[in-house]
Amino acid sequence: MASTLITGISELWTLDPALDDPSTPHGVADSQVLHDAALVIEDGVIAWTGCAADAPSADRRVDVNGRAVLPGWVDSHSHLIFDGDRAAEFEARMAGEAYAAGGIGVTTGATRSATDERLRELVRGRIAEAVAGGTTTMETKTGYGLTLEHELRSARLASSLVESGELDEATFLGAHLVPAEFDGRDGRPGAEGYVELVSGEMLAAVAPHVRWIDVFCEAGAFDPEQSERVLRAGAAAGLGLRVHGNQLGRSGGVALAAELGAASVDHVNHLSTDDVDALAATASHATRATDVPGRLAVDAGPTVATVLPACDLSTRAPLAPARDLLDAGAAVAIASNCNPGTSYTSAMGFCVATAVLQMHLSLAEAIRAATRGGALALRRSDVGHLAVGARADLHVLDAPAAIHLAYRPGMPLTHQVWRHGAPTP
Ligand code: NIG
Repeated sequence: MASTLITGISELWTLDPALDDPSTPHGVADSQVLHDAALVIEDGVIAWTGCAADAPSADRRVDVNGRAVLPGWVDSHSHLIFDGDRAAEFEARMAGEAYAAGGIGVTTGATRSATDERLRELVRGRIAEAVAGGTTTMETKTGYGLTLEHELRSARLASSLVESGELDEATFLGAHLVPAEFDGRDGRPGAEGYVELVSGEMLAAVAPHVRWIDVFCEAGAFDPEQSERVLRAGAAAGLGLRVHGNQLGRSGGVALAAELGAASVDHVNHLSTDDVDALAATASHATRATDVPGRLAVDAGPTVATVLPACDLSTRAPLAPARDLLDAGAAVAIASNCNPGTSYTSAMGFCVATAVLQMHLSLAEAIRAATRGGALALRRSDVGHLAVGARADLHVLDAPAAIHLAYRPGMPLTHQVWRHGAPTP
């Protein structure tokens, strides 16, 4: 494959993991941002980075004319597989109603009714929107099917998009809500019956198509004991663990995720000091999940606290305490949580700006959380940075410096996006 030299880069955020500075574990070292820089792409990966003056020759040359270049965003939490919107629910919320998990059932009805073709086109459209905003790695979940047939259909769709390279990670979220058919009335099974289905037959059908299992551990969805059963069954089927935890209250989801060694616990709006400490402890080498007897040795690494700023705004929830989490030493990621109920946006730039303006992260901390943080939450080392050997996923900003992301919030600052070494349409 031909090599490409990209030059004229005013700021190049390589975020090279080899240059991490232990004294700023969540920030960015000076050496991880190059000025007046260039990079070379070969075979879809980064082959060289450095000063423009030292750039080697290549088959093709692209001048970005004094723009900043970041790794593409790594969006580690989205729910793209759905039909219908919930604008009326949103409007009612803005008029004072509280968010409740029950809205998931509304989207489930619309999603079940959609044809396969329509669902695929809807998801592809949403991926295109995310890419247009600089996202180059994306996870998505099932969770709006809630029958074996419909969860399997969503998992197959996600997995086919992973195979085609349009998506990167697929997650089984059968435990999103107990569907109405399991209300225990008129001889129908209750919630326990649904937990059994999700962690039994449904999991067995879906597991070959996904890498992760997730559970909504919250009052109104699944309690910690039910969540643990689902997660343990997922781990036994070879899946990595993710948890929706402590979104609406102190649900026990964070403690469970840390205890089981989940890769990520997402939302984290309502945390006790013990929750923060538990997450921070997973980030210290001494207490890595695989080192602690009794924890599931699903994968090594911290339980990443994934904050979802757009969701917090859209639900008028207390913002997740990202600053406290970082100060305590926890690993933090920023994701969009794109879904029709609580966060109908995939705009990671908006999430990063919100993290800086409202959650009191520095720009470097927010960029790192939305790139390397997301990659860590997905246990990937090939994305989220632009060191030699990384996937050549570039976000070329229409700005000379990345600080413009927060300085000019809401402006269309994405000039060009490259995935796997090629510009996206
Ligand atoms: O991550 N919290 C659970 N799941 C989604 C919301 C789903 C919905 O309301 O449709 C979330 O916010």
